[in-house]
Amino acid sequence: MLKIAPSILAADFTKLGEEISSVATADYLHFDVMDGVFVPNISIGLPVLESVRKITGMALDVHLMIASPARYVSRFAEAGGDIIVFHVEAETPEATRTAIDEIHKLGKRAGLSAKPGTPAESLLPFIGSVDLLLVMTVEPGFGGQAFMPEMLTKISQLRHAIDSRNPACELEVDGGINLETAKLCAAAGADVLVAGNDIFRSSDRAARIRELRSAYVAK
Ligand code: DX5
Ligand code: ZN
Repeated sequence: MLKIAPSILAADFTKLGEEISSVATADYLHFDVMDGVFVPNISIGLPVLESVRKITGMALDVHLMIASPARYVSRFAEAGGDIIVFHVEAETPEATRTAIDEIHKLGKRAGLSAKPGTPAESLLPFIGSVDLLLVMTVEPGFGGQAFMPEMLTKISQLRHAIDSRNPACELEVDGGINLETAKLCAAAGADVLVAGNDIFRSSDRAARIRELRSAYVAK
């Protein structure tokens, strides 16, 4: 069964607590952090994560779209993140390994993400050390963009690599997910679907989470 991670970037921040309760049946809560440097947008950060941690038991999937994320991974883990995901483009391989170790020392799960222009090969050296790989299916920075179908090849490549080298690692996709693209991603091997607009614009969010979760039934 697929896991679903609603992205609160698409939520109404004036009533964030209610918005989070409305998606509580999902598996993870996706928390997008943008710094205006690594991506051309600024979103939310540590104080909001601390507040969210106090009001939900959901696993918090923190997606760091920030420059030099190694400086901050521990802070986001301590603020309540359960899965700390950062971008492979944003650090040297050495700093990436150190950051993954720091996250694990704090008892949290570590993830690595790649932008659309970054090949699957960039993630391969880290497959054995991470708990999750995140394939961006839009350019990171904004919700509501169209899914990039050319990313399906990358998802399949990483599915094969994970199956042979670290089957416990989850494969997550993020950007432009709806019922149609959810099926394509699941067929290509994704385990976790992030969805912002598709869930938060739905009149029955719990039903939409169920629909996305069963978008594709493995043969
Ligand atoms: C984009 C973010 C996504 C975004 C997805 O940079 O990483 O998590 O919220 O939004 P949708 O599902 O609306 O494309
Ligand atoms: Zn995200």
